[in-house]
Amino acid sequence: MKNRFRVSQLALVSFLLYVPQAESRWYDQETLEQGSIVFQQNCARCHMADAEGTPDWKQADTNGNYPPPPLNGTAHAWHHSMDLLKTTILEGSVNSGGLMPGFKDELSDTEIDSVIAYFQSKWPDDLYQKWAAQNQEVEFPSTPPTRVKAGSTSQDNNKLTHLFRMRLGSDKVSDPVKTPIDGIYQTQFGKNYAYLASNGRYAFLGDLLDLEQDQNLTSNARREIAAPAPNSLATEISGNSTSRKMTDLLKLRLGGNTVSEPVKTPVDGIYQAISGLKFAYITRDGRYAFVGRLIDLQQGLDLTDIAKRELVKAEMNLFASEDKAVFPAIGAEKAVINIFTDTSCYTCKKLFEEIPNLQAAGISIQYLPFPDEGLNSPGYETLRQVWCAEDRAKALTIGKGLEEGNLPAGNCIDGDLVDKAYALGNRVGVVGTPAIFKQNGKQIKGYVPYQQLIPKILSN
Ligand code: HEC
Repeated sequence: MKNRFRVSQLALVSFLLYVPQAESRWYDQETLEQGSIVFQQNCARCHMADAEGTPDWKQADTNGNYPPPPLNGTAHAWHHSMDLLKTTILEGSVNSGGLMPGFKDELSDTEIDSVIAYFQSKWPDDLYQKWAAQNQEVEFPSTPPTRVKAGSTSQDNNKLTHLFRMRLGSDKVSDPVKTPIDGIYQTQFGKNYAYLASNGRYAFLGDLLDLEQDQNLTSNARREIAAPAPNSLATEISGNSTSRKMTDLLKLRLGGNTVSEPVKTPVDGIYQAISGLKFAYITRDGRYAFVGRLIDLQQGLDLTDIAKRELVKAEMNLFASEDKAVFPAIGAEKAVINIFTDTSCYTCKKLFEEIPNLQAAGISIQYLPFPDEGLNSPGYETLRQVWCAEDRAKALTIGKGLEEGNLPAGNCIDGDLVDKAYALGNRVGVVGTPAIFKQNGKQIKGYVPYQQLIPKILSN
């Protein structure tokens, strides 16, 4: 059944965003042990036993090839989506002129997953959390569920979990239990939790925080710690100060200094507040917050994702086309994409070489500069030079080392666009390059071969 949504293991990771701890990794001990063996047998001879890579990995040899980089979080591997990591291991880089062999004939899918788990286990928690945040892959179909299964609507409990079970395509959803929030019920599936509201129509996927007690009720539940009793003294404040109290606790706990005014959601008594691209859903008294996503199970819509895309779209529109490096579509324009790029990034270069294929498919490409290593890095300087050039598209080709030529000095006014684009990238959730944004605000992370990229861009 294609219409079901898939909750991949990765998606489940993203539920745990605010509890950076080993138990929130997507893999279990067994996978890790298998991965360790696969790694030692297939990868260690190049990437070294602890995935630390070769010391000179940043230095290309005389043929322009790079030595095996670290996979332990100190290089770029953590910038790559799960898909891209898998593709790299399956295909290697030999066909595109690199030195890494492909493993599609040697390793099974599970072995590849396990070997990824192995080198990810070397990543520090903060990096892993960043990666996980970028790899939320729960997909919700837009078509409503087909038919109510006979016999499953008889009890209230069933009604509450019915849509969720159906969307999940699984009966492994526990019976709902009460939470300290009126009208919200917790249910468990696998190791994960969802919070159901309004008779099962809406689900919060993510962590439920008690902001007042500074407790993560979801991770407490996971460790079977009972929720603190609802505080009978917590009074609902009315009038102007309501939203301040709601957001003050949120700021305090989430460490964001700009939290938007809370606005109503379709769930009674729950308000949405935004900090950057982080969404929180808070109770009227400001005591509890869900961090994660709000799903309309009836419509099959990820309401958080929709709202997030609108934010991204609005942000992206603030950056004028004439401030980018533009590669127009050939023939009728079918789509426009924005790509954040760096001159020193290997996969950016690969994508850049395939730009003519995208143009031929009716796609216009607008490049924005994003120095991966941050401002004041060598990449930043090169990008400034490119943005100072008369013909940026040509300068970008030179900057990426794909054409001979000179770049102007980077100290012109347009060079400041690099700073501006870098700030924009950080606001819209770029963690690594290349980062591709469709017109609808959706981000495609990392390099995707053009044969697969074109349909991704042209579809919704
Ligand atoms: C013969 C040496 C060799 C072997 C064996 C090898 N690799 Fe690589 N790997 C490389 C090189 C070299 C690169 C750098 C870029 C390039 O040439 O494509 C690389 C790049 C990578 C990357 C991308 C890293 C980044 O920062 O973008 C990943 C992921 C990776 N290898 C994983 C593996 C895994 C997992 C295995 C074992 C199943 C493996 N490699 C085996 C040489 C090797």
